[in-house]
Amino acid sequence: MKQVRYNGLTFEPYIEREKIQARIKELAKVITEEYEGKRPLFVCVLNGAFPFASELFLNVDTDAEITFIRLKSYEGTASTGVVKEMMGLSENIEGRPVIVVEDIVDTGKTIDRLVNTLKAKNPASVKIATLLFKPQSLCCDVNPDYVGFSIPPKFIIGYGLDLDGLARNLQDIYVLKEQAD
Ligand code: IMP
Ligand code: MG
Repeated sequence: MKQVRYNGLTFEPYIEREKIQARIKELAKVITEEYEGKRPLFVCVLNGAFPFASELFLNVDTDAEITFIRLKSYEGTASTGVVKEMMGLSENIEGRPVIVVEDIVDTGKTIDRLVNTLKAKNPASVKIATLLFKPQSLCCDVNPDYVGFSIPPKFIIGYGLDLDGLARNLQDIYVLKEQAD
């Protein structure tokens, strides 16, 4: 695999598609066992989580539903700290087990705000599934339940993750070169 460039920045291969997909299958298996007969509602956080949510949902082997919400907190390679809700939830989630599906938990502000908003609607439970987790960047009291990969606080792109809207269609995950080991 080769390096890629976006907006004048160079990125190098970090996690291969095969490894991503194998890990998502493992998460789906655990979720399938834990939610058997409970009919969970997956809430995919757009835009970044759609490839992960798709792969995860397709591999869950029990009755489940999926819906989508849209939030935005990043500009360039840093979080703005302000979470904007671009598209809200239309379903009634009262009494239902909800699994929020995120691409990445960085500072945790996005997911923290979202989980609190969802809990106010009285679901049976709210759990968090995230493809990537940067524990060292965390500044909220957030504890993701299903984590694909825990990574250092590096800026990454691909498999849904973007740099100002670009690079979401990369099949593998890449890391900003200057920060690579
Ligand atoms: P948080 O609110 O700081 O946890 O940020 C969460 C959101 O920021 C994620 O849903 C991503 O959209 C974005 N984000 C965080 N880290 C990265 C990264 O390394 N690359 C691309 N987007 C990121
Ligand atoms: Mg996101």
